[in-house]
Amino acid sequence: MLSIGIDFGTSNSSVAVYDGQTVKLLELDTHAKDRRVMRSLLYIPRDGEIVAGQRALDLYTEQNTGREVKMERHSLGEITMTFSEMEVVKEAYAMVDVNEPGRLFQSLKRFLAMTSFKKTDVFGTEYSLEELVATLAQQILRAAEAALGSKISSLVVGRPVRFDDDDEKDQSALAKLKDAWGRVGVDEVRFMEEPVAAAHHHAAEARLVTGTRFLVFDFGGGTLDITVAEARGDSIDVLATGGVPIGGDLLDSRIMETRIAPQFGRGAHYEPEGLPVPSHILSRLRTWQTIVELNRPDRLEIIRDARRRSDSPRELAALESLVTRNHGLELFRAIERAKIALSDEEQAEVRLQADDIDLAEGITRDEFEAAIGAQVNSSRVCVLDAVRQAGLEPEEIALVITTGGSSLIPVFRNALREALPNAKLTAAGTFTSVAAGLALAGGTVK
Ligand SMILES: Nc1ncnc2c1ncn2[C@@H]1O[C@H](COP(=O)(O)OP(=O)(O)OP(=O)(O)O)[C@@H](O)[C@H]1O
Ligand SMILES: [Mg+2]
Repeated sequence: MLSIGIDFGTSNSSVAVYDGQTVKLLELDTHAKDRRVMRSLLYIPRDGEIVAGQRALDLYTEQNTGREVKMERHSLGEITMTFSEMEVVKEAYAMVDVNEPGRLFQSLKRFLAMTSFKKTDVFGTEYSLEELVATLAQQILRAAEAALGSKISSLVVGRPVRFDDDDEKDQSALAKLKDAWGRVGVDEVRFMEEPVAAAHHHAAEARLVTGTRFLVFDFGGGTLDITVAEARGDSIDVLATGGVPIGGDLLDSRIMETRIAPQFGRGAHYEPEGLPVPSHILSRLRTWQTIVELNRPDRLEIIRDARRRSDSPRELAALESLVTRNHGLELFRAIERAKIALSDEEQAEVRLQADDIDLAEGITRDEFEAAIGAQVNSSRVCVLDAVRQAGLEPEEIALVITTGGSSLIPVFRNALREALPNAKLTAAGTFTSVAAGLALAGGTVK
């Protein structure tokens, strides 16, 4: 019987199949450069089919970038509210972007830990977060079944060690992930911690000598996940796991906050009072999803007023374009490209020329490292905690397997070398080792 493993990642997903002899990655996304890796993106157009992966990004970009956002007040009908046992019936309204051709959802897995996300209205249909995650999960499953040529009835899905530092949020996120995968119509769905899966895969591939103690450092788009294990023949003993909700998305936000936000009005002042642009506006620059929230008449009014009265009209004109012309995702893609370039180069540039935005901001690797100092430190603490929990000294770790896109960032690799002085660092299939391990473990570990 075939064993199927699905790495449902914050940024990328992949699926592997194990037939008892070899593990193979499935070609999930025919539009992607690497067909074995599907972007964890969901696009729901106003009318038409639901789209996932690279095509979701392509369609969103084609249909939305540069278009004018037009917010209108729409009635949601009557709602009944109860105040001190008195019922009040009121008309409810919501601001709706009437020009919007489709909604794009990115990093849905990260939202699982956010208790604030309850429901969202997508062109008249209410989706809970679990339903959105299930919709994306179903797309991944369908692509896997198409590549496999048969229906899948049992699978092993990866889960982060921790979604959140807070226990209650962490538990609720896991419950929502399980709920979502319970909706895709597969009889048996099991879950396994992502770095444990990667550990199984590496132990099988590298034929580690029994007794070798090693650590898996799986650093993706949403979370950093760790396991400490000991090789035992073909298998492993898991000694400890650990994790923190730090990932590539957060590192992108740090670049935005430290280097790019000043180009969009952070540090600008209103004349003549010398007041700064309100923090509730500036804090929404942290992600492209929150930039979209600035597109409301009350917030736009603040931006336009600042543009008229501030000492930095160029920056505030750029902010207005960013918001009203929907360039948020494009900007964050430029930031991500610069971040990735900094893994190989000493400097990079965040570039975006569109409407009133004329951005070409250089960033050096040193500046990037300074911006993410707190995250590097948290990663070090997380690694050392896991080693301690395993009952080991840092010097006893002989090998570190790194996986996940963010594990390619040099400053995190250096921190690992310092924390675990006797360990050899080996990069394993950056975007595929978790899926491979899940498939493998699904066939051998019960
Ligand atoms: N060369 C690189 N240098 C730095 N960061 C990179 C590089 N390549 C990819 N990334 C980042 O890695 C992240 C995606 O990695 P990956 O696909 O392993 O995450 P994921 O598995 O989807 O997320 P998670 O496991 O946290 O749920 C993105 O934030 C991306 O910007
Ligand atoms: Mg991952």
